[in-house]
Amino acid sequence: MLRVGLIGCGAIGTTLAKAIKKEIKDIELIAAFDTEGKKVKEFLKRFKGVSTTDSFDVFMSNEFDLVVEAASQKAVAAYGENILAKTNLMIMSTGSLLDNELFSNLVHVAQENKRKIHLPSGAICGIDGIKAAKLRKIFSATLTTTKPAKTLNVKTKTKKTIFFGTAEKAVKLFPQSVNVAATLSLVSLGGKKTRVKVVADPNAKQNMHEIHVKGEFGEIYTRTKNFPFKENPKTSYLAALSAIRMLKNITEGLDIGT
Ligand SMILES: NC(=O)c1ccc[n+]([C@@H]2O[C@H](COP(=O)([O-])OP(=O)(O)OC[C@H]3O[C@@H](n4cnc5c(N)ncnc54)[C@H](O)[C@@H]3O)[C@@H](O)[C@H]2O)c1
Repeated sequence: MLRVGLIGCGAIGTTLAKAIKKEIKDIELIAAFDTEGKKVKEFLKRFKGVSTTDSFDVFMSNEFDLVVEAASQKAVAAYGENILAKTNLMIMSTGSLLDNELFSNLVHVAQENKRKIHLPSGAICGIDGIKAAKLRKIFSATLTTTKPAKTLNVKTKTKKTIFFGTAEKAVKLFPQSVNVAATLSLVSLGGKKTRVKVVADPNAKQNMHEIHVKGEFGEIYTRTKNFPFKENPKTSYLAALSAIRMLKNITEGLDIGT
């Protein structure tokens, strides 16, 4: 039985808790932690028996095999090292890992303590193939994110590229695209060489992420059109499904994909 702790009782956290209860075998949600008192109360009502708290120390007094972060970049920075000293960590707020110092500290603590850091593919597709391709040379990696012009606060009658530059710069200017840009960077060419294009489309109804990678293996192109999450329209539904899938990879005997 995999004993799981959850940080963040928001859209993704609640979906994971439901999935742990209903559709993942050999897993138990032991405890949850959220800094917002209201979220703690709601979660306690919904998931009776899960020890839910607004104190990180109380949360960490439990025994876990895995902690899932579904909270914020700040949470990864504040608690990541403590958690990895004790157990394994799955990170949803991958944008935090474009901070080179934080990233290398977390990897160092994980290695020292023989822990694992799990990063789900989130709202994009193709990470499996790029991971394999990275064993040899990758020449270029580009993420094109197309969003409804309204959500980018852009007034335009036609499709308009509003940014083209490094992933490192993109995550500073478009914090809402930060996780996808960071996950692609981490698996391919890093924040300085991975390119990001942001397009405002007046006719688009959904967020779309296209990935284009060229390397010694050949070429990968993927396009993912995401439906937003009802509970939090800034989050794509696929991101939560990808976290559920990763938990299943950990607990099930069969693990398909790189
Ligand atoms: N990897 C991806 O592709 C991907 C996709 C979507 C969202 N995300 C990220 O996953 C995270 C969760 O997304 P969500 O839609 O569930 O967000 P949400 O806002 O619905 O929920 C986040 C919850 O975490 C809590 N929280 C925030 N900071 C905290 C802290 N320091 N300590 C404890 N609790 C804290 C908040 O109170 C809130 O209840 C976000 O950081 C989001 O950017 C990643």
